[in-house]
Amino acid sequence: MTDRWSDTRRKLEEIQVGPSGPELVVLDVTTSTNDVARELAGRGCPEGSLVVAACQTAGRGRLGRNWQSQEGGLWFSLVLRPGSRMVPVFRLALVSAVGSAEGLREKTGLAVGLKWPNDLYIGGKKVGGILHELGQDWVVVGVGINVNQVAWEGEPATRPTSLRLETGQVHDLEPLLAVVAGRILLRYRQACSGEWEQVREAWRALSVMLGQEVVVTLPDRSLAGLASDIDEDGNLLVKVGGALVTVTAGDVLLTRAKGRSPGRDA
Ligand code: BTN
Repeated sequence: MTDRWSDTRRKLEEIQVGPSGPELVVLDVTTSTNDVARELAGRGCPEGSLVVAACQTAGRGRLGRNWQSQEGGLWFSLVLRPGSRMVPVFRLALVSAVGSAEGLREKTGLAVGLKWPNDLYIGGKKVGGILHELGQDWVVVGVGINVNQVAWEGEPATRPTSLRLETGQVHDLEPLLAVVAGRILLRYRQACSGEWEQVREAWRALSVMLGQEVVVTLPDRSLAGLASDIDEDGNLLVKVGGALVTVTAGDVLLTRAKGRSPGRDA
């Protein structure tokens, strides 16, 4: 399988973010690419190293959810070391979301948008998501994109979509990976060189939720309001009865999400 991924290898080397060349691990099947990446990171692999698998038997999502990872999707994890570059970890959610959406747009021309903190949406349906896991001196950025699937097991609470369903075409995973991973690394490099504002502005432009009514589920309560902006640290600002509430973590439901295109409301 390795030869097929030479574009990705080249891209990782071209946008090398660490002092030494990144590793590329290609697997047919694994529990979760995040598991393998965590192990590599713990063993001191170079920053920018990437693990990709054709299928995951125990793919996981945010908030402890299961992530269906059958063959046909793009499942990969990147190892970053933001601590050594003075990039606050909480900003990585927006960095990786912007990079992923831009990569998908570039390869497919689809209007991929973002729901805070880092869900990828097309026309009101989720097409991908990102899970960050933190270690002492590393962050694993796990990206899952529904590419060629046309059906999911069981009845997911909200029906997802895939690039194939949106375009009617089967997509090659390898060129997609090279572009999406490359875009994430470029946005990461930008954040590392003090250009966080550009990343934040790009996130706003891609957002499908700013200016929308949302319900946020927090561990102890839920709140309804208007998604107004993201702050300096990447937190979501929700206007609730005239006051701005800062949301640092939680699940956000758009109460009128259907078909919204990315971009900020006036
Ligand atoms: C979410 O939307 O909840 C995040 C989903 C993240 C899924 C990806 S697939 C590659 C990596 N490995 C995992 O087990 N999860 C992430």
